[in-house]
Amino acid sequence: MLVDGSLLQVGSPSSKLRCPDVGATTILDVTEASYITATRAAYDIVAVDYARLLSTESPETPVDLAMIEAFASLVRSAGAGPVADLGCGPGRITAHLHALGLPAFGIDLSPAMVATARKAYPDLQFDVGSMTALSLADDSVAGVVAWYSIIHTPPALLPMVFAEFRRVLAPGGHLLLAFQVGNERLHIEHGYGHSVSLDAYRLLPDDIAELLTQAGLLVQARMIREPQAREKARQACLLGRKPAVP
Ligand SMILES: C[S@@+](CC[C@H](N)C(=O)[O-])C[C@H]1O[C@@H](n2cnc3c(N)ncnc32)[C@H](O)[C@@H]1O
Repeated sequence: MLVDGSLLQVGSPSSKLRCPDVGATTILDVTEASYITATRAAYDIVAVDYARLLSTESPETPVDLAMIEAFASLVRSAGAGPVADLGCGPGRITAHLHALGLPAFGIDLSPAMVATARKAYPDLQFDVGSMTALSLADDSVAGVVAWYSIIHTPPALLPMVFAEFRRVLAPGGHLLLAFQVGNERLHIEHGYGHSVSLDAYRLLPDDIAELLTQAGLLVQARMIREPQAREKARQACLLGRKPAVP
């Protein structure tokens, strides 16, 4: 995959690619994008403590929960096909979607997050993977949820992520995104009692809506709310849909 002029292969920190179209076997070194490596490393470090904290104090407000319920209702009305919770972390939103009657499964970059999710919800499916290159077939899911998980992707690369969302969504499938509102990059050095090093991006809802539209998705609703409790920024939640007829 060509990203910003460099080859990006997600999934392993460094892997070898064989080129079949040259006479002798040629091995190319392909190194994944540094933000992917940093994000995976950070969430591997914090996974257990992140899960423990969020199991005792859920950050979702009634308004957030209403958006998740609206998404679930839309997917159920369309026949309740599979829902991919991308960047599922410890699986709490996947489990919530399941409780709302959706056959939800989770995918996350961080093997430690996936292990934590499997332990907490052994009846649900969780796999390691990246939303930049999903191992899901075209048109295969009725819903995609990215609940605070696009926030570590540099905004310039979000078109690639939204193209993946569109690819895997079935025609008429629904999308739910949540993120912090703003227009800046934050470098994070401490989290959940650990030293980490990764970036997070606050995003403007209008910019995200425009990128979704450019990716061929329809934006149906935007929720923006004031910060609550320990939050330092407004929070946004967007509902979108893949057109039923391409
Ligand atoms: C702030 S946490 C949110 C986790 C979960 N959605 C929740 O609300 O509890 C962000 C999660 O997104 C995952 N993530 C970040 N970039 C990702 C990517 N490119 N593909 C898959 N997961 C990613 C991280 O590993 C992390 O578990």
